[in-house]
Amino acid sequence: MEFEKVLTRRVSARKYTGRMPSDEEIQKVIDAALLAPIVRWHKLHLSVVTSLDAMSIAEIAADEIFGRPDSPVKMPRPYLYNAPVWIILSGKKYDESENPQAKLMNDNLFWNVGSIIENMELQATALGLASCGINTTVVAMRDRPDVKKAVGIPEGYDALASVILGYADAEYPERKVKPELIPMSFVK
Ligand SMILES: Cc1cc2nc3c(=O)[nH]c(=O)nc-3n(C[C@H](O)[C@H](O)[C@H](O)COP(=O)(O)O)c2cc1C
Repeated sequence: MEFEKVLTRRVSARKYTGRMPSDEEIQKVIDAALLAPIVRWHKLHLSVVTSLDAMSIAEIAADEIFGRPDSPVKMPRPYLYNAPVWIILSGKKYDESENPQAKLMNDNLFWNVGSIIENMELQATALGLASCGINTTVVAMRDRPDVKKAVGIPEGYDALASVILGYADAEYPERKVKPELIPMSFVK
């Protein structure tokens, strides 16, 4: 797919058929993560989850937060939208009390995370797969070592971001550029 088409076709998809992407497709998405611009000093890990049991454990944990009647944020369920593949990026943050450079390093972690997730979403789109960044089940793991273990996150690591993949069970229109999304200025 032409690159500009990839950009306008990428969309957060929330309806999936049950069809599992091939191992080759999944590998290409992982390769895209590895090709992202990432500084080398972060300890990162990718967990590729296709186990429905593991996904369900994370969704139950998410429901304990987002499904509460007093939750300020309401999210549609199921939180992983029945997508067949869920890829979680986790990492080990630096201890800011021990290392004077730790804050600098932790502060730029978000940038690396964004690059990795976005590369995976764009590659998925290029392959004809649908995707959606998912934060609900990531947030739900924060104080849940049991859930982290169930989804394959290494000990001492925190879930940072995640993306679901699969085949869309809906038609999504090509997206238009909306300049109002981010105010801009030019310095010439
Ligand atoms: C950091 C981040 C977290 C997100 N978490 C969720 C989520 O938990 N559930 C969900 O349905 N969509 C989630 N999304 C998708 C956003 O809702 C979506 O990117 C946004 O509405 C823009 O739509 P688009 O991706 O189709 O352009 C997340 C996106 C980002 C960047």
